Parts: sequence; C-alpha cells; structure tokens
Amino acid sequence: MTESPSRKLIIAIDGPAGAGKSTIASRLARKLGYINLESGAMYRALALKAIEWDLSFDDEAALLKAAENARIQLEPSMGGNRVLLDGRDVSSRIRERDVTEAASRVSVHPQVRALMVARQREMGTGGGVVMEGRDIGTKVFPDADLKIFLDADPVIREQRRLDQQKIRGGSVPDIAADMAAELRARDQRDRTRASSPLVAASDAVILDSTRLSEDDVLGRVEELVREKMERS
Ligand code: DC
Repeated sequence: MTESPSRKLIIAIDGPAGAGKSTIASRLARKLGYINLESGAMYRALALKAIEWDLSFDDEAALLKAAENARIQLEPSMGGNRVLLDGRDVSSRIRERDVTEAASRVSVHPQVRALMVARQREMGTGGGVVMEGRDIGTKVFPDADLKIFLDADPVIREQRRLDQQKIRGGSVPDIAADMAAELRARDQRDRTRASSPLVAASDAVILDSTRLSEDDVLGRVEELVREKMERS
C-alpha cells in the first residue's frame, strides 16, 4: 500500500496497554510514509520529570507547571519514538517500571491532559500521522479520518508485556506476577479516571487482537485505511 497523493489522513489508534498499538502504529506509519506519534511517551516523559524533581503524582498544580516548562519532543524513528526531555534522550528510561506506573498516575489530572492534548493536536495537524494512545479518537482528534480501538484479553496482554520484557533481558520469573498486577492496576486507573477515561469512540472500529497475529491485525487495519482513502 502506498501513500495517497491527494490527502494525508489522521489515523487514531487507541486501546489498553499490551494490545499491540505501538507495533501496529509504527508498522502502519512506515508503510504509509506517515509519522507515528506515541502520545503515551509524552505522559511518560512528564512522569520522569516528576520523579526526578520529587513531585507528588497527586499535585496537579506542580505537575502542570512541570509540564508547561518541559520540552518534550517525539522523534519518530524505525524502532519507535525517540523521546527527548529538555534535550536529553530518555527513550529507554521512560519504559522502565517506575516511570510506567507514574505515567498512569500523572495522566489522571485534567489540566495536565488539556496541555498534552493541545500539544498533540499541534503535532498531528496537517495529517499524515498515526497517533496512538488512550484518548486520540475521543479527545485529541475527534474528527480523525480513521479510529481504531485495539483491544485484547488481559491475560494475553500480560503475556505480551512479559515477552517484551524478556526481549529486553528482564528477570522474568521473579517479576511476572508483579507485572501482571501492575498492568491490571494501570488498566483500571486508565479506564476509570474521571478525565478522558480509556473508552472506544462511538465511531471507532474495534479490533480484538486476542486471537490475531500482528500481521493479521495490520492487514485488517490496512484494509480499513484503503477503504477510507478510496472514499475520500
Ligand atoms: O501507551 P503508554 O503505555 O505508553 O501510556 C502510558 C500512560 O499514559 C498510560 O498508563 C495512560 C497514559 N496515557 C493517557 O492517559 N493518554 C494517552 N493518550 C496516552 C497515554
């Protein structure tokens, strides 16, 4: 599939952790010649700043100020987004467990979200973007050309996260149970927070990847993109 010469789409991919959003988003973007933006990385970068500055994850005013002053850059690359915080490459650090947990906590605050959403809109305006996260189809780009909500059974999502960890060389047996519990807690927080909880937009296409391979999911998404391009 090649990029449409006429109009560059905005494609939103939302869903819970471990459903396969990042892989699908980056593979799709590469195929289309679009940029892939991981909105979660922005919350992760802010969470790292909060950890480093010893801010309380419950202090919305302090977090907002930190977010306003933070220079968070997402640089799409072949292996996912390179993330810079105030000019420093934090791409690996923000994937660690303490930051993962903190990101879910700093992202509950409405004012922090409003700032992030505004920045995400700026990044995606003009189209030619696959943006993934939790609220892209509902809040960031409610008029996105195509909205995918990628879900999977929690047990499968936990297993995928563990497999990723294995690839990164983590000591899996010791931490498997902890990681599963953390994923469930994060899920619960992301889905039940008052501000922009994780829900599928009413016009999103819901894809359950529990029994699908990555290639199957990508194929289905490409089909949807093709249909959209033909119609627009
Ligand atoms: O996609 P991720 O795992 O990198 O996201 C980290 C956290 O950031 C996640 O627990 C919820 C939050 N997040 C969000 O609230 N809204 C988004 N659009 C993306 C992520």
